[in-house]
Amino acid sequence: MVFSSSPASRPGRGFPDRLRDWQAQLRAQFPIIVRHPDLVYLDSAATTQKPQAVLDAVQAYLTTTNANAGRGTYPWANSTTALLERTREHIKEFLDDPAPERSRVHFVSGTSEGLRTIALDWLPRFLDDGDEIIVPFGDHQANALPWLEAQESLARQGIRITVRKMPYQVGSYDYDIPALAALVTPKTRFVSVSHVHHVYGGDMNVHRVREVVGPDVPICLDAAQSVGHLPVSLRELDVDFLVFSGHKMLALPSTGAVWSREQRGPAFEPPGWAGTPNTVGIASLEAALNWLDAAGIDRIEQWTAALTARLTDGLSRLSPYEVLGCRLSLALDSDVQQRRSIVTFRHRDIDAVDLGFILYSHGFMVRSDSHCQGHAGEKRTSVRVSLHVYNTPEEIDRLFAVLDTL
Ligand SMILES: Cc1ncc(COP(=O)(O)O)c(C=O)c1O
Repeated sequence: MVFSSSPASRPGRGFPDRLRDWQAQLRAQFPIIVRHPDLVYLDSAATTQKPQAVLDAVQAYLTTTNANAGRGTYPWANSTTALLERTREHIKEFLDDPAPERSRVHFVSGTSEGLRTIALDWLPRFLDDGDEIIVPFGDHQANALPWLEAQESLARQGIRITVRKMPYQVGSYDYDIPALAALVTPKTRFVSVSHVHHVYGGDMNVHRVREVVGPDVPICLDAAQSVGHLPVSLRELDVDFLVFSGHKMLALPSTGAVWSREQRGPAFEPPGWAGTPNTVGIASLEAALNWLDAAGIDRIEQWTAALTARLTDGLSRLSPYEVLGCRLSLALDSDVQQRRSIVTFRHRDIDAVDLGFILYSHGFMVRSDSHCQGHAGEKRTSVRVSLHVYNTPEEIDRLFAVLDTL
């Protein structure tokens, strides 16, 4: 089928055609995608599909050395313990940790559990009466609710802290850095931010946050939508916590990690008996990291950035649709705010949830609801399209062809 009749499907600027063969080889490694040529998966911000190498690693682990970690003296147990240690080191390397000997990686079930553990186990030990924290109530609620829980829990112990709302720029939803600078006081003890916004897809330019909060305030980074999508460098970001979900970067569900550094505040050591770790999940995480290394995270970023620009450009040419978030991020080389693999929109007249059902009737799997945004977020539902390296420009043009008829 030819889709060139759609006004949206003119080729996006600078589409990296030189990556087409590379991408086709990678796409062929996702069995679920290959088996369903009539379906188009556009919900990778919710969870990604898994390449064969990850499925093989799960099978191999369970059929060769499955045992518990940190207990037992026999080879399978030792091998599982080594798997955990290896994966911790691999995560540090993948995140370009400048001082791996002074940081820790704690496995969690995902970003939600990771952020909540920081909020409930670490933050209260660090705060005193009258202290202030700044958190993003317009980001994912996993990065909003735990800080309020921490505030309540401290209040029960007679310690009153103030939770301030991270300011956003009107229209773009980028953080408002001058307004943030004005919010910071000598009482500011902690700031939490997100790397890539899960609704608007905007890169939140978090490297600017350290400049305004000063050298002593710990910064926590929700990297759920950046790890596995673009190069993430702890060397450049200078944050104290980085949290991500394995299932959003090609590994199994219920995997993820909290990376922490022991520089500002006490060491992050969640108390209590942690029990058995998700060993098979961690085997999948190791395989996902190996796969991403071999594929090349720089090229993955280039591919998905080009798809994202094509999607944003095309949608803004279809008059019944409104793209949410930064309007100035349409160009790949925008120095205003890059859009990263996520584009969210509404139709002028069709309800977003209805639009989700309509799109599935044409084979497109998108997310259509309010996207678990914190209480300062959108009040109306919208349709979110989110991409990974297995998506193609042809899939996006097929989407335009359908959207154009509505
Ligand atoms: C930015 C962001 N933070 C946190 C989460 C929660 O991740 P998980 O469900 O893996 O805990 C998500 C999930 O979509 C997210 O997009």
